[in-house]
Amino acid sequence: MSDQVKLEIRNMTKLYKTGDGVRNINLTVNLGELVTLLGPSGCGKTTILRTVAGFLSCDTGSILIDGKDISHLPPEKRPTAMVFQSYNLWPHMTVYENMAFGLKLRKIPKPEIQRRITEMLELVKMSGFEKKYPNQMSGGQQQRIAIARSLLLQPEVLLLDEPFSALDAKIRSQMREELRKIQTDLEITVVFVTHDQEEAMALSDRIVVMNKGSFEQIGTPAEIYDHPASRYIADFIGEMNFIEQRDGTTIAVRPENVTLELGDGTGGDIGGYVRTIMMLGHFYEIAIGTDSGIVKAYVSAETAGKYKRGDMVNCYFEGTYRYEPDSEKKKEKIAPA
Ligand SMILES: Nc1ncnc2c1ncn2[C@@H]1O[C@H](COP(=O)(O)OP(=O)(O)OP(=O)(O)O)[C@@H](O)[C@H]1O
Ligand SMILES: [Mg+2]
Repeated sequence: MSDQVKLEIRNMTKLYKTGDGVRNINLTVNLGELVTLLGPSGCGKTTILRTVAGFLSCDTGSILIDGKDISHLPPEKRPTAMVFQSYNLWPHMTVYENMAFGLKLRKIPKPEIQRRITEMLELVKMSGFEKKYPNQMSGGQQQRIAIARSLLLQPEVLLLDEPFSALDAKIRSQMREELRKIQTDLEITVVFVTHDQEEAMALSDRIVVMNKGSFEQIGTPAEIYDHPASRYIADFIGEMNFIEQRDGTTIAVRPENVTLELGDGTGGDIGGYVRTIMMLGHFYEIAIGTDSGIVKAYVSAETAGKYKRGDMVNCYFEGTYRYEPDSEKKKEKIAPA
């Protein structure tokens, strides 16, 4: 990734007649960077992508690519390409025809089109699918072709709107890895949209966490995971225990930062009893019933083997956050995670 700015969204607001939309959006994305817009349904992710692609116009603010204001250009004049959640391919065209379409419009000579499509199909591991129609392929294969087709247009900025959301978990994580490899190999600048925090963590150079039409925090996956700027983000990203305090503040601690010892259930940072022990793959979750609700700890199989339901335990917290009652803002980080 370079430090050359590729895309810049400056103070952009886009509101629908209903008053929904996005407000005061500021974002710069560097050449070769993959930035993810992450947030729950309805927070405005697609609205931002559509304004960048030109399918929607901004109310105020501007969008620049390579320093040039493109806000007033129609979609086909913008150096962007967008891939949607589903139904990206023309059903009456073969894979080859789907992929060739945009290149023909650009008057690229036939042999050149042929060469580029062959290369691109190889890149997305879909060689030999040229003559297939979309309804003869799986959802994952169709999305792969949709991404391949958008890459053929060599966009300055690639916009991906939940491209993998219709796929099952395994294919999804495979596609994620492939996309990341191609994107870094070719140094493509990408704005990726998802409501899946795990997907955002795995893929992104930086993540923008959105809340109701605005940006709540921008940072690398590690920054956001280790320093969630608000209770909203602490709740949205990863797993977190919240323990209400008598003074109205809330202490938050991640399950991997909770350690246990057998005891009388009154010591440590909080005490309680073992409610459930569950295996979650390569680790175990022990849920402790306390006076302040359930506290979860992630432990190894070996550690889990030392406990059984009903045991009294003391819990120790290794890294905690404190959030104010009303502002939802983080007050201080008490100890390093
Ligand atoms: N054409 C429209 N007219 C009016 N309101 C709209 C329109 N499109 C979207 N909205 C509203 O604007 C807000 C943002 O919508 P948007 O589609 O950007 O959300 P999103 O984050 O992409 O959600 P999802 O994860 O469900 O795709 C929502 O409240 C939505 O109802
Ligand atoms: Mg959307």
